[in-house]
Amino acid sequence: QYKYERVKIQSNAEVANNIYKLVIECNHEAKPGQFYMLRGWDNELLLGRPISVHDVQDGLTSFLYEVRGKGTKILSTLETGYRIEIFGPHGKGFNTNVKGKVAVVTGGIGIAPMYYTIKALKNAQIDLFAGFRDEVYLIDDLKDFISSSYVATNNGRIGHKGFITDIFNPWEYNLVLCCGPEIMMEKIVRMCRDYKTPVYVSMERHMACGIGACLVCTCKTKDGNKRVCKDGPVFSGEDVFL
Ligand code: FES
Repeated sequence: QYKYERVKIQSNAEVANNIYKLVIECNHEAKPGQFYMLRGWDNELLLGRPISVHDVQDGLTSFLYEVRGKGTKILSTLETGYRIEIFGPHGKGFNTNVKGKVAVVTGGIGIAPMYYTIKALKNAQIDLFAGFRDEVYLIDDLKDFISSSYVATNNGRIGHKGFITDIFNPWEYNLVLCCGPEIMMEKIVRMCRDYKTPVYVSMERHMACGIGACLVCTCKTKDGNKRVCKDGPVFSGEDVFL
């Protein structure tokens, strides 16, 4: 049932303060918004970490992750050539077969899955609204795929000083895709509701199995509790209770 496989790390490097990019030799063609469980240790008691897919290209899959605790700390030390254990891809991601004006709204490392998602939104006109605490990353890599980008930082180092929700206009868009801290997603969903703009959010939870069996990752929706790993991580903002 738990089919971890070992694949080779092509690179694993810090790209911004505490933010790492891991590239592995893996050609599963994961869909935007899906995730893998990653494990870079032999201790069975330390569970794999769910990390969203950042990009898939030329037989390589990449992940952009923030070091937050023991698991991600170990992941950040793994070197080129190490055979990391991966299990996935899992979950229901974003529907990218859409047209019209799409706003992608992110907070912090929530921008990670949106790189692959934005690249897949080939028929849409995309504006990116990205909020960061301090350091800004990834925006330059996305400029070929988007119409405009708007940045906010908490300290005003780059872009708007404050929150990305201060400068986001839901009424201009046919669809909003959102990934970031729950408090930010809650605000975005509320703003979209006021203007009847459809919005999808990518939820984050601690996970153990990653395949819908253990129920540690549930979130509340209007249809009862759902598993973020299997029923999500992407949910309609109309359905999920934030
Ligand atoms: Fe086990 Fe989601 S992590 S059900």
